[in-house]
Amino acid sequence: MQVYEIKKDIYWVGAVDWTVRDFHGYSTYEGTTYNAFLMLGEKNVLFDTVKKNLSSDLVHRIRTVIDPEKIDYIVVNHVEMDHSGSLPQIVDLVKPEKIICSKMGHKNLLDHFHRSDWPYHVIENGEEISVGERTIKFIETRMLHWPDSMFSYIPEEKLLISSDAFGQHLGTSERFDDQVNWEELMYQARKYYANILTLYSPLVRKLLKQVEDSGLEIDMIAPDHGVIWRSHPDKILQAYKDWSHHKGERKVLVIYDTMWHSTEKMAKAVADGVESEGVSVQILDLSVNHRSDVMTEVLDAKGIILGCSTLNNGLLPRMAGFLMYMRGLRPTNKFGAAFGSFGWSGEAVGLMNKAMEEMKFDLIHDGLKVKYVPTHDSLKECRELGILMARKVKEALD
Ligand code: FEO
Repeated sequence: MQVYEIKKDIYWVGAVDWTVRDFHGYSTYEGTTYNAFLMLGEKNVLFDTVKKNLSSDLVHRIRTVIDPEKIDYIVVNHVEMDHSGSLPQIVDLVKPEKIICSKMGHKNLLDHFHRSDWPYHVIENGEEISVGERTIKFIETRMLHWPDSMFSYIPEEKLLISSDAFGQHLGTSERFDDQVNWEELMYQARKYYANILTLYSPLVRKLLKQVEDSGLEIDMIAPDHGVIWRSHPDKILQAYKDWSHHKGERKVLVIYDTMWHSTEKMAKAVADGVESEGVSVQILDLSVNHRSDVMTEVLDAKGIILGCSTLNNGLLPRMAGFLMYMRGLRPTNKFGAAFGSFGWSGEAVGLMNKAMEEMKFDLIHDGLKVKYVPTHDSLKECRELGILMARKVKEALD
């Protein structure tokens, strides 16, 4: 099978998952890749494995380069099953001298595979090991995004093998950032950050500062998903810096679900108000937009306006699910507001406000409710809500 030499004697031997469309609730329309890397030298080292169902791709690719039994060390940068699912099979095949992992990696490997007989070599944060002409420095990245996560850095090659960080769910036959459509690549990188890392943004900021302060020279970043950043590692580092600050842009989202189109009419009027102030607005109907695509837009929007009809004294299920998802990811530093139609009780607006308060959004309004069907005057109020939001956003960012 096709392998790629990403640096002298360092090969991509991973797998492309062309068919995956759902990653525990995250839509992966473009599929993904599980990247694994094989570095040859005095000691041959395999960095990570692939999802279990694609283990034969990994094995064939390794065989294209060397006999798997010649692998000395397996590095487990991250225990999540998309990178470790093939590990039992690979360990049986390779019989490695060492399985290198962090302290939490060791615990998590035991909890996943229950194999206390494996030859674990637990490293300390910042520890370096020599593998002949090259060195591997291990940098723990706890909670980015699991407790076991770490980077492997090869200083002689200025190569950072970054596990999930800087990844994208992009299934492609191309392996490098300069071979794919740039807009699509950055969209997928942003979607990945929004749906996996938003919650851990303070840790991302801390890590980026550590990397900057340590003077680590990086000319290639090889994540475990998607393409390798060989031409623009600086751009993805800068993007992570920007995203991790949740600064927000002059952009407002009107995210809604509707029962009999009254809330939809309100959504359009709210968006019209935002637009009239020259601020970018997106109307996102939850019945046709996947929650993970909406979350991607939330990442850099400064204003979030939620709309939902009241159903059975509560929210429509799609809005309830979206709020649960967004609350888990905890975007910060946003203005918020809510609206919705109702028949007799009207709890939806209060519930959306409560969810936004929990995320510490700055609520700009108590919320707009319309009984059954909006009138011309109530749509005017909706439009005014949009104008108010747009002005708040402009004041904050200009
Ligand atoms: Fe790609 Fe956290 O696994």
